[in-house]
Amino acid sequence: MMSHSRIARLEEFAFQRLARLLADVRPTAPGPDLSIGDPKGDPPAWLIDRIADTAADFKSYPPPAGTPELRAAIARWLNGRYGVTLDAEREILPVAGTKEALYLLANVLVEAAPAGPPPAVLMPNPLYQVYLGAAVMAGAEPVPLPADAATGFLPDLDAIPAATLARTRLFYLCAPSNPQGRAADAAYWRRALELARAHDFVLVADECYSEIWHGGPPTGALAAADGRFERLVVVNSLSKRSNAAGLRVGFVAGDAAVLADTLKVRRYGAATIPRPLQHAAVGLFDDEDHVAAIRRGYTERVDAALARLDGRFGAFRPDGGFFLWLDVGDGERAARTLFERAGVKVLPGRYLAMADAAGRTPGDRYLRLALVHDLATTLTAVDALVRHVDPAA
Ligand SMILES: Cc1ncc(COP(=O)(O)O)c(C=O)c1O
Repeated sequence: MMSHSRIARLEEFAFQRLARLLADVRPTAPGPDLSIGDPKGDPPAWLIDRIADTAADFKSYPPPAGTPELRAAIARWLNGRYGVTLDAEREILPVAGTKEALYLLANVLVEAAPAGPPPAVLMPNPLYQVYLGAAVMAGAEPVPLPADAATGFLPDLDAIPAATLARTRLFYLCAPSNPQGRAADAAYWRRALELARAHDFVLVADECYSEIWHGGPPTGALAAADGRFERLVVVNSLSKRSNAAGLRVGFVAGDAAVLADTLKVRRYGAATIPRPLQHAAVGLFDDEDHVAAIRRGYTERVDAALARLDGRFGAFRPDGGFFLWLDVGDGERAARTLFERAGVKVLPGRYLAMADAAGRTPGDRYLRLALVHDLATTLTAVDALVRHVDPAA
């Protein structure tokens, strides 16, 4: 097979690595899978009727720019949530989930440098692996910014070297962050945007956990932008807030010029969202009741899990999202032990992070637990962790 240097540089995806790690382990009992952030709760029951309402539209190609109805619903939601005034025509672009948009944005924003230093794409470390793959496939150098306990689990924006900023084309910044669940405040977003404007790169704010909060609603980059969206795009989706990861509806919002370029590229090759699903998505964006119920469920599980952990493994309460990020000493070893003794699958933090030259990552000591199951199942897994993994290891 033809070898391709960029593809060779792509790490295996985290869940493939987990499958290899556990391939030879024979669990002594069946247990739940907390490795993937795949919601197990249901979206509102009326979603099916809304899809069926317009099922006749499955016959037609969907518009690549999204339906005006969906763009308007997203604008209504964003404008209400963040107190902004986005233009539904120019400043909002529906996408088939944020994953494809995050990937495509590197393609849109990175121009290969014919000479001189390679273009850089900044990202937190640990990270959502798509940022890394997108940067590599766009021909850029992925630059990891430490986001560990020492930096408050978000990158230290004032520690980025000037020479790196000078060649940066794009900065992926996730808040509330996956895996640690840290929210950014307005000052943090403002500083990140200031850097983007000063150094002429685009800040891509990944806010897909924005509605799964456990204290108050986190502010977003749009709210911190003072009504001017140049050099800022925000991505978000219905996957987490509406238990609708399979619907594949999300959006990119912000800088109109970036969105126009993204749409131009999307017309060539990106997935479009079937019309009946766009119509159904309007209902989800317009309804906050189901989101509040979903959020309450996650908060209940986070708090119950933390009570059982009782401070073990450095457990802390995330501001948002549905993950616990636990310091177990050796994440891979703990994941194998937990699977063997209790059949519980969790993700070693190492698989969500970039390694340094010595092969070390800021995730090596950690496990990520996705609290996506019901309360009883979640607590079974947490109890197994307490029983089988030694906090002193
Ligand atoms: C940080 C982060 N960004 C983006 C996504 C992609 O979500 P979707 O494509 O469903 O919108 C995920 C999904 O797990 C995620 O964790």
